[in-house]
Amino acid sequence: MDVILIGFMGSGKTTIGKLLAEMLLVPHTDLDQKIVESAGQTIKDFFSKYGEVKFRELEHRILLNQLKKNGVLSTGGGTPINIQNLEILQATKTPVILLEASTNTILERVGKSEERPLVNQMSTRQLTSLRAERMPFYQECADLRINTDNRSPVEITEQIYRYLLDTNQYSINSKVKF
Ligand code: S3P
Repeated sequence: MDVILIGFMGSGKTTIGKLLAEMLLVPHTDLDQKIVESAGQTIKDFFSKYGEVKFRELEHRILLNQLKKNGVLSTGGGTPINIQNLEILQATKTPVILLEASTNTILERVGKSEERPLVNQMSTRQLTSLRAERMPFYQECADLRINTDNRSPVEITEQIYRYLLDTNQYSINSKVKF
């Protein structure tokens, strides 16, 4: 992969991932989408049939597969929490970008989502504490942190693009970097 986006649910990983891929002229991959395709069912159904542990196993296998490809990868909110995934994300040379959002922003963006089994079962308080619990894992593997509160997707995408240029991780003249 050329860039990996991480962050809590509702931090904008999929939206920004698509825009960034367009800007870099590379494919975009959504890890959740790959999981749905591989499982042949929605994440919500998979969770309720097999539970979170099985979901994390499948997520890990698919992450390993996707890392070999090129493009922008939007991970799931829980991907870096699995220690094996965290180690991979720490060791990779691919830039890992953390998108951050406050609990209020997260609730505004995904509060009513039917498709997110973890959010559906939680109170605002539980969501706040899950977000706080996960933050150290995200920070452990992030090369760049971006607060997305009250910022437009285009603005955020341009910030990532500029970071890649400034750190020589992307060249305007070549579609594929490195
Ligand atoms: C999860 C986040 C979801 C999805 C699954 C579990 C999590 O992805 O992988 O529902 O544990 O935070 P998004 O972050 O894309 O919503």
